[in-house]
Amino acid sequence: MTAGYSMKAAGIECRRALDYGRMGSVIFELKKSYIYFSKFFSMSIPTTRTKEDAVISINVELCTGCGLCVKACCSDMLKIENGKAAELYGKSVFNCIACGHCMAICSEGAITITGRTMSPGDVFDLSSAASDATYEQLMSLYSRRRSVRKFNQKTVESEVIEKILAAARTAPMGLPPSDVHVLVLHGREKVTAFTKDFAQFLKSMKYLVSGWFLAMMRPFWGKATDEMFRNFMRPLFDNYIGEMEKGNNYITYDAPLAMYFYGSPYSDPADPIVAATYAMHAGEALGLGTCMLGAIHPFIQRGKKAEQFRKVHGIKYKSQEGLFVIFGYHDLKYKKGVKRTFADETFA
Ligand SMILES: Cc1cc2nc3c(=O)[nH]c(=O)nc-3n(C[C@H](O)[C@H](O)[C@H](O)COP(=O)(O)O)c2cc1C
Ligand code: SF4
Ligand code: SF4
Repeated sequence: MTAGYSMKAAGIECRRALDYGRMGSVIFELKKSYIYFSKFFSMSIPTTRTKEDAVISINVELCTGCGLCVKACCSDMLKIENGKAAELYGKSVFNCIACGHCMAICSEGAITITGRTMSPGDVFDLSSAASDATYEQLMSLYSRRRSVRKFNQKTVESEVIEKILAAARTAPMGLPPSDVHVLVLHGREKVTAFTKDFAQFLKSMKYLVSGWFLAMMRPFWGKATDEMFRNFMRPLFDNYIGEMEKGNNYITYDAPLAMYFYGSPYSDPADPIVAATYAMHAGEALGLGTCMLGAIHPFIQRGKKAEQFRKVHGIKYKSQEGLFVIFGYHDLKYKKGVKRTFADETFA
């Protein structure tokens, strides 16, 4: 077991301890309530980017009344009236969320959406389906992937970064527009400087794993959390901080590129994770080695010091979930794949 691996496990346990999961369900429930509330008062769904409804425009001259946009609309915003597409008022739960499906299905260019960050210019022609990756090609990419923690000296080019971001932007999100934010650390120096700062930040919180603090908290948070703090958090702190002081970066492995995907108080907690996964696969397809890092995000969420850390590093929001992905050109060449299994696959 590598130091990185054990730290990763500790990070995940730490995340559980901080119990963001529960906080997230509360936010999600509140968001759901907001949606039901909005049903009666016809309000639009807020994000950090927009709080407005999108505007639907139909060109009746171009519309053939085929009805495809009505079928495609997931928000009950459209109907056919007098043989033409028309806006349907009063039925929608969310109003127009600017998913763009109506524009994407209309071959006549008769329907356009403006607002919620979308404009008619966002529609583009798809490449031929014949050029899509096959299942076998995807499986080849997926099974070749390893979590890479050793990189050669080569810099990741700006064009490659743009390609990764372009791919990640296509990721689905709870509700459009995406409320995923990305911090890009381009260059080994930037990644290492960020990591050193993070290690210093952790050091300032070391009292969390001190004997007196754990003894004081034991009656409040119980045996399991106490054990977790002693057996996971304490070694994690020691390892991250101590090794960094010795010049060993077991946090971001001196990668030449890191991206931090995080959400906002409005986003679905899963959104940044989905986007990070797309980015990881894009990086792999571009010949990079990648590794997801779960252990930084939970530490930089709560408290004044975390807020200060986020501010200094241009991280705009705290969020229930978030994930770092590191990228770089391979130093090692793996010769075989390693079979993976799920804990359970029940066909109900
Ligand atoms: C959500 C998530 C968080 C992870 N966090 C870390 C981490 O903080 N440090 C690390 O070295 N690896 C981390 N990993 C990589 C895993 O340790 C790795 O996926 C696992 O060991 C399996 O190896 P493989 O990815 O090569 O199949 C993380 C992976 C995931 C999916
Ligand atoms: S898909 Fe286009 S042409 Fe068909 S009904 Fe809708 S707007 Fe009219
Ligand atoms: S953008 Fe989406 S929600 Fe809005 S009218 Fe078109 S299909 Fe419906």
